[in-house]
Amino acid sequence: MAWVRTGVARSEVPPGGMREIDLNGHLILLIHHMDQVYATAAKCTHAQGDLAQGKLQGNRLTCPRHGSVFDVKSGIVLQGPYGAMKTRELQVYHTRVEDGQIEVELS
Ligand code: FES
Repeated sequence: MAWVRTGVARSEVPPGGMREIDLNGHLILLIHHMDQVYATAAKCTHAQGDLAQGKLQGNRLTCPRHGSVFDVKSGIVLQGPYGAMKTRELQVYHTRVEDGQIEVELS
């Protein structure tokens, strides 16, 4: 595991906002929620919906394709299409802010 600087200043992700980045080949969504920066995979686990185009309400992120809802803090599926194409937990990453810059821990 290693901390990787994203090149994004914390001030560039406003409260309640999201920003997608490509970090060493990982598509990651940075999310500012309740004075914390969270990081999740940027593609939905159901059918690769673009979560950066989703709707963020508090800690709940809704996929724009079929409406799965994820907790951005844990990646847990709060609601979603079930059955043959079941929505799986969303990958989350640890984050920290160093010198005002967001860093993400990658394996
Ligand atoms: S692609 Fe996200 S809910 Fe189907």
